[in-house]
Amino acid sequence: MTDDLGFGIDIGGSGMKAATVDLTTGKLMSKRHRIDTPQPATPDAMALVVRELIGVHEWTGPLGVAFPAVVRHGVVGSAANIDASWIDVDADALFTTTTGCDVHMLNDADAAGIAEMTFGAGRGRRGVVMMLTFGTGIGSGLFIDGVLVPNTELGHLELDGFDAEQRASAKARERESLSWQEWAGRVERYLRHVEALFSPDLFIVGGGASKKPDKWLPKIDIETEIVAAHMANNSGIVGAALAARPTVPPAP
Ligand code: BGC
Repeated sequence: MTDDLGFGIDIGGSGMKAATVDLTTGKLMSKRHRIDTPQPATPDAMALVVRELIGVHEWTGPLGVAFPAVVRHGVVGSAANIDASWIDVDADALFTTTTGCDVHMLNDADAAGIAEMTFGAGRGRRGVVMMLTFGTGIGSGLFIDGVLVPNTELGHLELDGFDAEQRASAKARERESLSWQEWAGRVERYLRHVEALFSPDLFIVGGGASKKPDKWLPKIDIETEIVAAHMANNSGIVGAALAARPTVPPAP
């Protein structure tokens, strides 16, 4: 194993995906392995899948885990699309025990944003950049001059009297069998709301819905520049691996 190689797991409401990552380029260096998120998505059940995912890749180095909830210093602080028993669990300690790896946990949209700011659509972009992921929920990663403000949770803004992700996530499109046009209308309404609150310079959209950006992105009419994530749905894996990178000790 070289220092240039990392490993990331992206835990979502429906799938847990993992791969080795070249930390100098952001490219996946192994086949992406996906296992369905266990239901109920409890800490013990998910820890077993994390162990299986590193076992498949025979990984023993630093492990980055992108998690679909608020994560503060390794501790889970919310549970919108996972089992409620996660709240207040030290996920960092749990996964460190089950894998034996040096684990670094962070919110999944924050991870996706780190990857896009480093290698993708946000590379070199200053000002206010907002990563938004449209999947089972809506995740947000806010960057100011390239620095992450973690755990912004903008998928839970109120939209037309609902939790926004209930109306405008990719899952909502599938659940309500919406056409791309109908769904894009909801996403546009949501983006206009976020736009009014934050006046961002750039939106980067990722998550499951970013696999087919041509179907809906051209239908979005907002003031702010908006682009699809360059790494599509792999940015969570790449960002998690980057976040777990061992820090270089300061020169003596
Ligand atoms: C969670 C966020 C997460 C997003 C995307 C939301 O329901 O509250 O923490 O980033 O889903 O997975």
